[in-house]
Amino acid sequence: MGTNSHPLLRFITCGSVDDGKSTLIGRLLHDTGSLSDDQRGVAGETPDFAALLDGLEDERAQGITIDVAYRQFATPRRRFIVADCPGHEQYTRNMATGASTADLAVVLVDARKGLLTQTLRHTAIVSMFGVRRVVLAVNKMDAVEWSRDVFEQIASDYRDHLQQLHAGLSFDAIPLSGLTGDNVVESSMRTTWYSGPTLLQLLESAEIEPAATGDALRMPVQWVNRLSEGRGYAGTIAAGTLAIGDRVRVEPAGTEAAVARLFGLDRMLETAAVDTAITVVLDRELDVARGDVLCAADAPVPTSDQFSTRVLWMDGEPLLPGRSYTMQLGTCSVRATLTSLKHRLDIGSGAHLSATQLRMNEIGACEWHLDHAVAFESFADNRELGGFILVDRHGNATAGAGVIDFALRRSGNLHWQSLQVDRDARARIKGHRGRCIWLTGLSGAGKSTIADAVEAQLNLRGTHTYLLDGDNVRHGLNRDLGFTAADRVENIRRVAEVARLMVDAGLVVVVSFISPFRAEREMARELFAPGEFLEVFVDTPLAVAESRDPKGLYAKARAGKLPNFTGIDSPYEPPRRPELHLDASRQSVAESARAILDLLD
Ligand code: ADX
Repeated sequence: MGTNSHPLLRFITCGSVDDGKSTLIGRLLHDTGSLSDDQRGVAGETPDFAALLDGLEDERAQGITIDVAYRQFATPRRRFIVADCPGHEQYTRNMATGASTADLAVVLVDARKGLLTQTLRHTAIVSMFGVRRVVLAVNKMDAVEWSRDVFEQIASDYRDHLQQLHAGLSFDAIPLSGLTGDNVVESSMRTTWYSGPTLLQLLESAEIEPAATGDALRMPVQWVNRLSEGRGYAGTIAAGTLAIGDRVRVEPAGTEAAVARLFGLDRMLETAAVDTAITVVLDRELDVARGDVLCAADAPVPTSDQFSTRVLWMDGEPLLPGRSYTMQLGTCSVRATLTSLKHRLDIGSGAHLSATQLRMNEIGACEWHLDHAVAFESFADNRELGGFILVDRHGNATAGAGVIDFALRRSGNLHWQSLQVDRDARARIKGHRGRCIWLTGLSGAGKSTIADAVEAQLNLRGTHTYLLDGDNVRHGLNRDLGFTAADRVENIRRVAEVARLMVDAGLVVVVSFISPFRAEREMARELFAPGEFLEVFVDTPLAVAESRDPKGLYAKARAGKLPNFTGIDSPYEPPRRPELHLDASRQSVAESARAILDLLD
């Protein structure tokens, strides 16, 4: 196609069915002749565009794996890929996906309604995911009698909004109607007061800065193949080029080798350019795995295990500091723990609000600690190596999406000191190894009494022990924490870390905390070696614990004087597979303690 004076334009449409989004896209495809005869319907009749698109959506729903439909179309002047994000309640998830590869966003507003919270949210999301240019499509102009005042008011409100955001977005506003087609492809005779381009003209002429990726090679390894020539590393080049003989470096390991062979999809190659899917064979066997990044030896990609990021949260469960998720960055998956929530973005004003959690559809500045260093780039430098999603560690649902702003330097300045005396040496002089017995259950379930009995027995046997009890630790180490979900997460994180140090020291540690959330008990378990962590569910029905009410707290909670009380107005998530399940309303304390000691032996 010699007619392509402009490069391919990828854009995203943001709006809901109510804003007339389906009708507008349907109209654009129809009036540019991009629909099949079938889809166009009876000649001479205007098709129902919204229904047409809904039909396309159904087809797509069967594919399940992608929520975003990418439609290609072309005019003599340009080729387009439009990401159409369904407008149902999961829209932010789809929008993040669509925006992260888009050059431009068409944000729809209903002329009768003007800017809505959702318009501002869409703008904040596309801006965060790298879109620099917005077309404000003021739709349904037919419903406001093509009023210039209405249009100009909306355009000026939006201009004010962008100025307040300081997001560096440029924008154009167009008065149009998807239903009648005015100013979509053809200029309207009904808006003689508007002399700007139609939507299509604007899309055709929009100058787009190519995404900044730099020239240095970046190739995230997708998988490793065993070939007769040696190991082949397969992936798609995200930046730069690759040629036989080039010296490449593997990050985060930092090892180097030269390129021996290059395979394309169906043939051998001498060189490969950006966006090409290839398999690379090196001249030496290196330890390379999925998630590693091959890069130019003289311009290696940075690595880090701590990042400052912005996150769009999409899960019904809020994002809490101290929680862990699986971060997928490029082709790499790594466990990431939220170390601090710096602020939440007010999508209306762009202001930074203090926050202790992020709820669904909120955007926040987040700092993460990863289990190990990974190769990355800031999102501004490379969308692929700087954009990530967060997956819930149990449900496998996408819980959030984010962009890396920068690595935190402190990670580079902290080293793990290796010591002469290790846990084996400590265990030897104690005559036993450290273990962690983790008791979880409602307040009043009997945890502390059982823990006390267990420790007394162990002490008689000459075992070196320590008991960490919720009430006691909350008087010292954790006296700054209350009982909100966020504080409980931090409470357990600290106690788990302390228990780990004690186990490392060779102690048998009995932990007695309500520890109501599965995620934190799992986090605690993962700090220990297999077999070292024994989860004991002290199971007492709420009614029994409440009737005991040793501290009078249930009575207070029922009277509304103690908010966030576990079992009353704060949840308790019972363990699914504890090492031991005690029926503490039937078994005596002595029986329960014996069961725990048996488990230890
Ligand atoms: S946890 O949920 O964060 O694990 P933790 O075990 O440290 O709780 O502390 C629980 C103890 O704090 C309870 O035994 C009770 O004495 C006291 N407490 C005070 N307020 C609450 C509350 N809102 N919910 C539960 N326990 C509370």
